Amino acid sequence: MSALFNCCILFFCLVGGSFAQISQLGSCPAVQPVQNFQPQNLSGMWYQVRRYDNFYDINERCNRVNLTIGLGNRLRISERSVNTLSGEPITTNLTLTPVNRAQAQYRVRLSVFSRQTSLVTLLDTDYTSFAIFYMCQDFANTRLVYLWIISRQSTLGLNTLGRRLRVEAANNLPIGELRTVGQLNCPA
Ligand SMILES: *[C@@H]1O[C@H](CO)[C@@H](O)[C@H](O)[C@H]1NC(C)=O
Ligand SMILES: *[C@@H]1O[C@H](CO)[C@@H](O)[C@H](O)[C@H]1NC(C)=O
Ligand SMILES: *[C@@H]1O[C@H](CO)[C@@H](O)[C@H](O)[C@H]1NC(C)=O
Repeated sequence: MSALFNCCILFFCLVGGSFAQISQLGSCPAVQPVQNFQPQNLSGMWYQVRRYDNFYDINERCNRVNLTIGLGNRLRISERSVNTLSGEPITTNLTLTPVNRAQAQYRVRLSVFSRQTSLVTLLDTDYTSFAIFYMCQDFANTRLVYLWIISRQSTLGLNTLGRRLRVEAANNLPIGELRTVGQLNCPA
């Protein structure tokens, strides 16, 4: 991981105050992707409704995600959000490359400053209402963990709660750290 990235993480952990990137002790564990993966069914529009506080999404609300499936089952993410401080729109495009064609696990390069890739795992989804993505980055003797829940609706369905808790428990993820992503008064 680049020195710049390390430096930024430390900056936000030490100076950020209310902002905390979620981390855990030890290196990234193996995690189980969702079974019988049907990548095509993930495509289309989603709202990001919950996430752990993290380095990449600081001060972002109204996150809307358009997923498309490309060649070799690459997952293309086109995301629009709004900066909570300036109100300016933000566009992010990412391409996730499957580790293994049939599996719901991807590599993504997140920083133009680094050749390092991060492993992203789709832990659970029913395709029609919710999907839970996990990312983990080894960082010295700790790991930085990320969780995003995206929903076809701007709110998270009650029936998703049990699946979410089960996924968090099964992967030793901290319960109670998921934050609601603001989806009110958003641009069309
Ligand atoms: C995926 O989409 C196909 C075609 O619309 C559908 O037949 C299938 O049941 C879907 N699978 C799941 C798991 O939703
Ligand atoms: C999602 O992205 C695809 C591919 O770029 C595009 O064709 C489609 O119109 C987009 N959908 C929406 C709702 O913007
Ligand atoms: C992201 O992709 C969309 C659709 O392909 C494009 O219109 C937009 O300019 C891209 N944004 C950035 C920041 O690359």
